[in-house]
Amino acid sequence: MSARGLANMALQFEVLARHNLARASRLTLPHHVVQTPMFMPVGTQGVIKGITCDQLEDLGCQIILGNTYHLALRPGADLLEQIGGLHKFMNWPRALLTDSGGFQMVSLLHLANITEEGVTFQSPVDGTPMLLTPEESIQIQNKIGADIIMALDDVVKTTTTGPRVEEAMHRTIRWIDRCVAAHSRPTEQNLFAIVQGGLDQNLRAQCLKELVKRNLPGYAIGGLSGGEEKDSFWRIVAQCTAGLPEDKPRYVMGVGFPLDIVVCSALGADMYDCVYPTRTGRFGSALIPEGVLKLTNASMATDNRPLDPSCTCMVCKKYTRSYLHTIVTKEALGSQLVSYHNIAYMMKLSQDLHTSILEGRFPRFVQDFLQKQFPNGD
Ligand code: GUN
Ligand code: ZN
Repeated sequence: MSARGLANMALQFEVLARHNLARASRLTLPHHVVQTPMFMPVGTQGVIKGITCDQLEDLGCQIILGNTYHLALRPGADLLEQIGGLHKFMNWPRALLTDSGGFQMVSLLHLANITEEGVTFQSPVDGTPMLLTPEESIQIQNKIGADIIMALDDVVKTTTTGPRVEEAMHRTIRWIDRCVAAHSRPTEQNLFAIVQGGLDQNLRAQCLKELVKRNLPGYAIGGLSGGEEKDSFWRIVAQCTAGLPEDKPRYVMGVGFPLDIVVCSALGADMYDCVYPTRTGRFGSALIPEGVLKLTNASMATDNRPLDPSCTCMVCKKYTRSYLHTIVTKEALGSQLVSYHNIAYMMKLSQDLHTSILEGRFPRFVQDFLQKQFPNGD
């Protein structure tokens, strides 16, 4: 590795096997070695809702995600820095990734507004106007101390068209240089850039070219999974993976439907995150090989099978659908148990993708996966 490479990154990325575009790899981060493809559960505020860190370790989670915006509000970046970072605060020994904050503000706060300086918003605490600049996002993320930190990007909805999409793409490129300049711990934390450009292949191509020039430790594909047609989504992912370096990790942001993860992995993506498995679990939906099991359905009341007879998780060993039907939306424990199973499902999916690529049976795995999800071929 070149001296420049060593100075600017705190990871090693080794592709272990390929099948066409798909890759199985080993990503060595400061706090943990992660095998890819990998789904990262989202713990916005340093908690994966309803699941303890010990349980996450038992489930085989290797890397989890936190959000700069939420952590900066509470407990606050300075406090986290004094404690020795988010790893210590939440007692999580493995890898962490923080998202930069802009996306969360724009998606959560209607009053967020993006200017060249940064993202302006009203404090949810007392309504005072606040500004998150690229420099501040990185400074906060340096204090939080995650293994991977994300650049502040200008995100527009995938349904947005016209000049605003182009402006956001160019601004994301201008902001990456401000993020790189502000990053004070490049040998301890890896700054990933985020490709924007909406559903426009021309804009995506320009963004890819500029970001790849910056030679960052890893790259994310942003601005997707916002209600666009699957066709457009997959076309953009394919274009981005083709344009990104072979020897760097590729992260598709906000993607968490099992089918999308399988397809994006086939297209050469490595990492994913989404609140979906835990959120849908809290609402009583369990992820199973056939798709989604709605525990709130009346038919579950007398079903004494486990959620998924092929799952080896603690919940599937100990509880029936009927019991979970009874408690899922009424007791905190019910949503915790279903979330636990859903994370187990996502970890098994990640593991299966990795080993099937490694062992040269990826096409067979994809075929089986699709056959179970779409038994009638539709
Ligand atoms: N999470 C899901 N999509 C995005 C995105 O485009 N940018 C950022 N920063 N976070 C995301
Ligand atoms: Zn299970």
